[in-house]
Amino acid sequence: MSSPSDTPVQKVKVWDISIRIFHWALVALIGFLWWSGTEGVEMENHVLAGYTVLGLIIYRIIWGFIGSHHARFINFVRSPIKALKSVPDVISVRSDSHHVGHNPVGGWMVVALILILLAQGISGLGTTDDIFIDGPLVAYISEDLVYWLTDIHLMLPDFLIALVILHLAAVLFHDTFKRERLIQAMITGVKKVPESISDSIRHSELPALRFLIVVALLSGIGWWLITHYG
Ligand code: HEM
Ligand code: HEM
Repeated sequence: MSSPSDTPVQKVKVWDISIRIFHWALVALIGFLWWSGTEGVEMENHVLAGYTVLGLIIYRIIWGFIGSHHARFINFVRSPIKALKSVPDVISVRSDSHHVGHNPVGGWMVVALILILLAQGISGLGTTDDIFIDGPLVAYISEDLVYWLTDIHLMLPDFLIALVILHLAAVLFHDTFKRERLIQAMITGVKKVPESISDSIRHSELPALRFLIVVALLSGIGWWLITHYG
């Protein structure tokens, strides 16, 4: 968004608090998981952090259907053709178009990050290092499946890192060259947009009751799984 400094702007609540906690918790946990996994240290905590990421991703998928306005997939996942057509606009420094939530290209990046983390977390459940640590499914599935899931778990982090680097490059590009304060918005929840687009503005407040029900359900299921199979 390249708004000249004299363009009147207004503040929009774009990311509710749960999306922001989800995001920054993910950043910390993925950093730890990558470090512990590749160094082969703190593996018991690796497994716990892995469960937490799985829980966060499942929450995010549910929130993508019943969450606040800008968190919903329907409000940021466009058809692949529309997303491709928007590429020149999204990467143009001069473009004056505005996206309150994720832009159409960024929307697919979000989907890709969610899917790869889901696959990484699920494959971890059937992964073994053959020495100290087994995912909880290893005892119940065939040896072939364990080695297949372990291969996937060891292979996906390279793709995950590539996606994260691309994600960071895109965010920094928007921040530096298009002056869209995306990082600030992911911290405070608030984005500044030109007043000229105020007709289409929607604020994303946290639907508190819905949020509590989802968190209670996921915590209950997680607790039950860990006490029975962990
Ligand atoms: C999305 C979350 C996760 C991420 C990002 C992640 C990341 C990693 C990474 C980077 C490695 C090292 C790969 C390598 O050596 O090249 C690893 C290894 C491992 N992970 Fe995860 N992991 C996740 C979830 C889990 C879960 C949920 C479990 C088990 C319940 C698990 C169990 C293991 C085990 C046992 C290894 C060692 C495999 C070996 O050394 O052969 N991980 N993980
Ligand atoms: C392990 C590293 C990271 C992962 C896995 C990750 C993942 C994600 C995901 C899944 C979203 C979508 C949020 C949602 O709609 O729920 C997102 C958005 C975002 N992330 Fe990250 N992120 C990572 C690191 C970072 C870092 C280090 C920064 C800042 C320097 C950052 C800045 C942002 C911003 C600004 C957005 C919003 C983009 C927009 O406005 O469209 N991310 N990230």
